[in-house]
Amino acid sequence: MLKDKVAIITGAARGIGLATAIEFARAGATVVLAGRDLPSLEDACNTVRGIVPDALLDPVVCDVAVAESVRDCFQFVMRKHKRLHVLVNNAGILEDALIGMATPKQIERTFAVNTFGPLYCSQYASRLMARSGGGSIINIASIMGVNGSAGLSVYSGSKAAVIGITKSLAKELAPNAVRVNAISPGFIETDMAAAITPEKYKERMDSIKMGHAGKPLDVANAALFLASDLSRYITGQVLGVDGGMVV
Ligand code: NAI
Repeated sequence: MLKDKVAIITGAARGIGLATAIEFARAGATVVLAGRDLPSLEDACNTVRGIVPDALLDPVVCDVAVAESVRDCFQFVMRKHKRLHVLVNNAGILEDALIGMATPKQIERTFAVNTFGPLYCSQYASRLMARSGGGSIINIASIMGVNGSAGLSVYSGSKAAVIGITKSLAKELAPNAVRVNAISPGFIETDMAAAITPEKYKERMDSIKMGHAGKPLDVANAALFLASDLSRYITGQVLGVDGGMVV
């Protein structure tokens, strides 16, 4: 489904990003795995190759919160591949805090990674995609960005902004054949989800109508759909992947 396509996934060393890298490689894409730490990206590449032996992979160091790091990463993609068709803005952090407890550092860090990161990456990606005949930008938002949750105002705000960015970029980039959509996962079994307290975990599970958490593959499958031509007339949408979660 993605043969001859070049895709970049941020935060690809584990969790949803890694699952997406596996599915994109299985679909025939050349996959650039971007993240902060080269050894963990190389481990991730080995994991992908264990499943897709002939996968075409590039691990690239990129801190999405740092504009210069994003620039260097996309310059690498430009030099090596000369084209880009898919960007998955997946890198994200979650630091729970009641509003009275959130520190300025926490607020800045959360928005730097979750909101500024997708903006920086989309700037470079959209130029490259326009020159490549079009593309698909997929922003991993969150159900918390759509509905909000007590104790998550900083995270929810950073993800709500991503939804606004998605809708605006979809309008701006449509004439260049660049589609922009968001995925809004509910509760997905990853290291991020494992970091919450047992009480919060029970609360989350009780709020999922399907009765169980999602797997990284569930989000990866949605990303594959949005990356492929199966969704060629879909832009500016927010696709929930949440098992009927209510928050
Ligand atoms: P995770 O914590 O397992 O993976 C996040 C990845 O992003 C890690 O590899 C981490 O190193 C990377 N990362 C963090 N800061 C970065 C930076 N500055 N530059 C580059 N990479 C960076 O989390 P998970 O669950 O796989 O989350 C992926 C995305 O899905 C995130 O945007 C998250 O907010 C979103 N999401 C996750 C949900 C869940 O239940 N797991 C629910 C809703 C949204």
